[in-house]
Amino acid sequence: MTTNSNPNPGPKEESPAGATPVLSVKVSASAPAGATAVGEFAYSDRLGAIEGVTKAAVQRGGFEGKPGSVLVIADGDRVRVLCGLGAEADAGAPELRKAVAAFTRAVSRHRKAAISLPEGVLGLGQVPMAGVMAEAAMLANYSFVQLRSDGDAAPRLNGLTIVTDGDLRASRVEVTRATAVAEAVCFARDMVNAPGGSLTPERFAEHAVERASGAGLSVEVLDADAIAEARLGGILAVNKGSSHPPRLVKLTYEPSPEALAGLEGPPATVALVGKGITFDSGGLSIKPADSMVGMKMDMGGAAAVIAAICALPALGVPVRVVSFTPMTDNMTGPDAQRPGDVYTARNGTTVEVINTDAEGRLILGEALVLASEVEPDAIVDVATLTGACMVALGERIAGLMSNDDALCERVRHAAQEAGERVWPLPLPEDYASQLDSDVADVKNIGTRYGGTLTAGLFLKRFVASGIPWAHLDIAGPGMGNEVDGVNPKGGTGFGVRTLCRLLADWHDAGAGGDVSADAD
Ligand code: BES
Ligand code: MN
Ligand code: ZN
Repeated sequence: MTTNSNPNPGPKEESPAGATPVLSVKVSASAPAGATAVGEFAYSDRLGAIEGVTKAAVQRGGFEGKPGSVLVIADGDRVRVLCGLGAEADAGAPELRKAVAAFTRAVSRHRKAAISLPEGVLGLGQVPMAGVMAEAAMLANYSFVQLRSDGDAAPRLNGLTIVTDGDLRASRVEVTRATAVAEAVCFARDMVNAPGGSLTPERFAEHAVERASGAGLSVEVLDADAIAEARLGGILAVNKGSSHPPRLVKLTYEPSPEALAGLEGPPATVALVGKGITFDSGGLSIKPADSMVGMKMDMGGAAAVIAAICALPALGVPVRVVSFTPMTDNMTGPDAQRPGDVYTARNGTTVEVINTDAEGRLILGEALVLASEVEPDAIVDVATLTGACMVALGERIAGLMSNDDALCERVRHAAQEAGERVWPLPLPEDYASQLDSDVADVKNIGTRYGGTLTAGLFLKRFVASGIPWAHLDIAGPGMGNEVDGVNPKGGTGFGVRTLCRLLADWHDAGAGGDVSADAD
């Protein structure tokens, strides 16, 4: 055994986070003999059309065909599972995801299950439908069991066959793509679910490096000295109260010649930035006990960015992507930054820290300056930034802010297609004076109201002028208090699906990656 300065490393500290495997999904023209559960879809306004059961019987079973509801019927050695899609005219991809998620949970006691494509249109062809279904099943089958002493006690499905009479080869390509995205989401969830005391900045960076190297990305890690050398004052300021050194992980994805085939002109460059606060105690402006619970999730933005960029090779995305994820915890150690302290950011801005709990913007500011120096065509950041965003939009919807309408629309559209909920919020210029400091260029909080917008306006100061930038505040949807569709309780991996979709479709959405062109 090697020496460990920590006498109590906690349970399974060395277990490889990110190890939760995703459900294996196959595509076939018929259900395999080994499947003991077989799913079929039902529309609420066509309950009379279900083979072998009457409308009256399914209704007595409590089944109305609502999206997310299921009825399990014993049928010889197998079970039939009716999965509601709602009214036929209203059913689309969101209803299909909900239905498949409910199906996956309903059949968790089976080893092998099968489900046929829905009849009807759903606004999707059969091939994309197979992809949507595979992704939903993989996401809903996730559970975080790494820290349970009884191992994988909760039963989970082992294999799913999607039964289609559509093009099998093309459907399999979609399922492969869905697998890459779902694996990325599950990796991000594992990172978010890891306790703050185990997933230190050093460990988080190691996980990022391991995954990125495995995916063939270029990797650069800045340690404390390199962060000081690069004058990333905001990261050093937040890290002052910590006994763990900070990290900044930079990952670069270069598309392969195959990924670029068919693209006219050079690929666009997009920079991603993610908030990596491995635990947020609030610092000296300490959080009340109840608000501190769950603050291990404050690195959900960084986890989403790292997971997404690592999925790009498998997705064959034709865009250059560079990611910057600053990592530190926000603690109260003896030399923690004090309210009233001033630091200097890499771009020369001096910042008065009024509230040490508004720390995410300090580390993101530095990462946005680094991202700007790459001179990308766009920057997108993802951050569990403000409780105020949860007041505004609740726990399931992310706030979207941008300095560029076309980029904002691209991100909004990508999120909608990917099945993640975001809503645009403004960045009102006249609110920026709330951040005027008596002693420095800027202070880190505004007044009581509109805290999401002033946080966004703070970030905007660190984006070089002329670069389109979008900011996703995922404080609400980054973590769930209950099962919700494809999302489990706990870390959701929110942002991964939006980023993957945004980058995969980048050159389709606007000519040559010019985000000032109409996005649609
Ligand atoms: N990490 C929090 C934001 C957060 C809150 C995320 C709840 C997820 C759930 C952030 O660092 C924070 O503490 N923000 C403060 C800002 C305030 C001091 C201006 C907040 O929202 O209260
Ligand atoms: Mn905070
Ligand atoms: Zn925070």
